[in-house]
Amino acid sequence: MNVLVVGGGGREHAICWKLAQSPRVTKLYCAPGNAGIAQVAQCVPIKATDVEGMVKWAKENAMDFVMVAPDDPLALGMVDALEAAGIPAFGPKANAAIIEASKAFSKELMKKYHIPTAKYETFTDMDKALRYIDEQGAPIVVKADGLALGKGVVVASTVEEAKTAVREMMEDHKFGQSGSTVVIEECMVGPEVTVLAFCDGEHLVPMLSSQDHKRVNDGNQGPNTGGMGAFCPSPKYTPELAKECMETIFQPTVAALKAEGRPFKGVIYFGLMLTKDGPKVVEYNARFGDPETQPILSMLDSDLLDIFEACVNGTLDQVDIKWKNGAACCIVLASGGYPVKYQSGYPISGLEEAGKSAVVFHAGTKLGENGEYLTAGGRVLGVTAVGGSLEEAIANAYEAAKPITFQDMHFRRDIGKV
Ligand code: AMP
Ligand code: GLY
Repeated sequence: MNVLVVGGGGREHAICWKLAQSPRVTKLYCAPGNAGIAQVAQCVPIKATDVEGMVKWAKENAMDFVMVAPDDPLALGMVDALEAAGIPAFGPKANAAIIEASKAFSKELMKKYHIPTAKYETFTDMDKALRYIDEQGAPIVVKADGLALGKGVVVASTVEEAKTAVREMMEDHKFGQSGSTVVIEECMVGPEVTVLAFCDGEHLVPMLSSQDHKRVNDGNQGPNTGGMGAFCPSPKYTPELAKECMETIFQPTVAALKAEGRPFKGVIYFGLMLTKDGPKVVEYNARFGDPETQPILSMLDSDLLDIFEACVNGTLDQVDIKWKNGAACCIVLASGGYPVKYQSGYPISGLEEAGKSAVVFHAGTKLGENGEYLTAGGRVLGVTAVGGSLEEAIANAYEAAKPITFQDMHFRRDIGKV
C-alpha cells in the first residue's frame, strides 16, 4: 500500500517509524516531513495545512491511505476532503476535530453529557470576563477558545495576572481570532496524566497512559512549551483509575460525539487531572500528542496500519492491540531560548552513536549542503528509549542522549522524575 503521513515533527517521525515496520506498507511518504523522517519515508514538500495541494498530490500519486497527524489540517477538514476524493484517511473530520479546535465547544459538550471537568464560563465580551474574574478570585485559569500552539492557556495565581491574560487575548489579539472568545475556569489541583485512545466512531481503545513535561526548565519552572519530554506508562494511572476513566470520561465522550452527529474516528487525547474529587478532563485534543507519541509507539507491538484501518472502517472492536512490558521515555533536545526566541541552522553531532541504543526521533531538523543534520526548530530531537522499568527507560534515554551536541542545546534533566 502507498501510505502518506501528513505532518513534520517528532510525532510524525514516530508514526512513520512505526508504519515503516508494517509489511503491508510498500511505499511510505510524509508531507512535509523532516530530515529524520527522510530516513524512513519519502518526504514531499507540501505544507501540512495545504488541504487542496495535499488531496491533489495524494490523488495523482495513487495513495491508498493517508494519516493526518497535526491539529490544524484536521480542523481545516483535510480528512473530509480526502474522503470526498475517495481516499481512506485516518483522523477526525472537522466536525469532530472541533473538540480540540474550540474549547468553548468541548466544555459545553462535557457539561451537557456530565463528563467531569473544571467549572467554567465562556465570554465574548471582555468587560464581562474581567468582572467574572473579580467575582471568582484567584487562582483561576484563562484559555483562548481556538488553537494557539498549546500556548493559549494561562494558569493565573492572581486576579491581576488573569485580567492581563484576558486583555492580551481579547484586546491585543495575542492569538489572533483564537482569543476573541475566552473560557475562564476553575483551577484544578492534582497530578496530570495523558491517555490517548484509538476511536472508530463507536468503539474506543485506550493506549498506555503517559505523562509529558510542558514547562521548559527542571522542576516544572519557566514558560510552557509543546512538551520537553514524556514517558509511559504513568505509575499514577492505576487499573482502578483506568476503569473509572473509561466509565466516566472515555466512553461518555465517544458516545456524546456520536449522539451529536459528530462521530470521532482517529485518536482522542484525554488530558486528565487526578483531583481529590476524582479524574477530570483538562483538555481534549483530536490527535496524537507530541512528544507522548514517541514513547507510546515505542511500546506498541501490533501493526499500526491495521489499527488505523480498523479506526476508519469501524472495526476497532475486532483488533487485538498489544503492548510491550516495561516502559519508555523520550527526552526532548531543544534549541537554547525555546519556546521564546532561538536560532536555527546549527550542525548536530553524535546522532549515529545515540542511535545505537535508542531511537532518535527528529522534531526540527534539516539537511545541510553536505548532507549533515542541522537544527531547524525549537524542539530538535526526541531521544527515546525503552526499559524493563520506568527508571531503566529514563536512564537509557539520558545515557543514549549523551553523545548528541549542537550549539545552545537545552534539555530537562528531570524527565520522569517530577
Ligand atoms: P491545556 O492547553 O488546556 O492542556 O492547558 C495547558 C496546561 O494548563 C495543562 O496541562 C494544565 O497544566 C494547565 N491547566 C489547564 N486547565 C487547567 C485547570 N482548569 N486547572 C489547573 N490547571 C490547568
Ligand atoms: N504534549 C501535548 C500535546 O501534544 O498537546
